[in-house]
Amino acid sequence: NFFWPRFIIIIIFSGDRSASIEEVKFNEVTVYLVERKMGSSRRSFLTSLARSKGFRVEYALSDEVTHVVAEDNQAGALWAWLRGSGLRDVSRLQVLDISWFTDSMREGRPVTVETRHLTECSPPTAAASVSQYACLRRTTTENHNKIFTDVLEELAENSEFNESKGPCLAFRRAASVLKSLPSAVHCLGAIQGLPCLGEHTKAVMEEILIFGRSFKVEEVQSDERYQALKLFTSVFGVGPKTAEKWYRRGLRSLKEILAEPNIQLNRMQRAGFLYYRDISKAVSKAEAKALRSIIEETAHWIAPDSILALTGGFRSHRGKEYGHDVDFLLTMPEMGKEEGLLLRVIDRLRDQGILLYCEHQGSTVDMSKLPSRRFEAMDHFEKCFLILRLEEGQMERDGGLQKDPGESRGWRAVRVDLVATPVDRYAFALLGWTGSRQFERDLRRFARKERGMCLDNHALYDKTKKLFLPATSEEDIFAHLGLEYVEPWQRNA
Ligand code: UTP
Ligand code: MG
Repeated sequence: NFFWPRFIIIIIFSGDRSASIEEVKFNEVTVYLVERKMGSSRRSFLTSLARSKGFRVEYALSDEVTHVVAEDNQAGALWAWLRGSGLRDVSRLQVLDISWFTDSMREGRPVTVETRHLTECSPPTAAASVSQYACLRRTTTENHNKIFTDVLEELAENSEFNESKGPCLAFRRAASVLKSLPSAVHCLGAIQGLPCLGEHTKAVMEEILIFGRSFKVEEVQSDERYQALKLFTSVFGVGPKTAEKWYRRGLRSLKEILAEPNIQLNRMQRAGFLYYRDISKAVSKAEAKALRSIIEETAHWIAPDSILALTGGFRSHRGKEYGHDVDFLLTMPEMGKEEGLLLRVIDRLRDQGILLYCEHQGSTVDMSKLPSRRFEAMDHFEKCFLILRLEEGQMERDGGLQKDPGESRGWRAVRVDLVATPVDRYAFALLGWTGSRQFERDLRRFARKERGMCLDNHALYDKTKKLFLPATSEEDIFAHLGLEYVEPWQRNA
């Protein structure tokens, strides 16, 4: 018995200094104090102080943390560290200066975050070198500022519905500049000196930085008219004017439109409704590739030397994984030989039983009327807007046809645009159809304002020399404009 202790003393070493006996009063807030620059003793002191006031303060960074508080830290370095910390979603974190903490201690509760509470940051040195023209920026699909650009693009769309061209373009330009930045914006200081960011845009960004959301866009999203117009224009063949007409008639859903006997849908809209579910589903890269093989084979069967290029978002390296349609450009090496080719391709697709819808437009190219000043206008090349049937069997094994669970019809409908050009217009058409839309807009604006030239999908015209500049490749066009070549995957402006 002598050897058995009377008392067993259990000593618990608590490695987790977050263990706290204080009662937590503010459950929605979990603070993490950054030790860097603050020092460990000040950190301990501030931790005890906050806990005594009912704040939950964690010593370890985890997904529980909501408010990261730092003293004299540069926002850029802080965010870089947070991104590398293995947290699930750093974008939901409030990253704050010590002033938020001291204000909260004084008030005895977590105070509302204001701009002055955001961590200090200086404008990135690169700001001065960001051009107002997308063709002088490099924009990949890696967008570090999606939380802003999604909102700005939605506001642009709303302005478009309201026919407010100025604000629409301003929001689109701002989104485009933010997409080109090499890192995420975490404070308003970081956008100082950047072009195309107006007061409205900055106000929206400030809201997002402080509250993590935009009340302005939420207001737009909950607007009945916006919802209806967005829904109606999502149907192939329905533009903002038709959508507005339907809205004014009191119609709010697609069902109501189909049930309304006085509404006469045109052929395109009928197809749009018929294949709505399929064509509002994104097209994958694998599906685009399968379509390319089908169309290439078809064109080669008719004309073995025909040339087919994938354009739009799927163009070899523009890098998009998904698109709303698949765009192709067709030409022949010899001038004039392209005439009639597109119609024969369409016939052949019909014979194969995969043509679900086709709207063909003949060429109206008239070089005496080019280039057009209205760069939003549709070009004059011969083209067709198609809906094709893509069979599961035509897909690569690894690609797979996208299926809804429980749906195994074995095929899907896909929107395809097919454009045919004479070979001497091919480079211009390729550049124009590769996009993005904002990149094209800025390329044309740059040509006009900076070079006294006129560019569109058909030609480049030098207004001073009064002559058309020939091009056999996109590189030629960039060279005429005195621009460094921008690869397709850098044009996601
Ligand atoms: P899309 O609308 O297909 O865009 O037009 P996208 O980039 O492929 O993206 P998705 O399909 O929505 O995923 C492709 C490009 O063709 C040009 C546009 O400028 C756009 O950049 N285009 C489109 C024209 O030049 N003329 C047209 O009539 C239509
Ligand atoms: Mg496309």
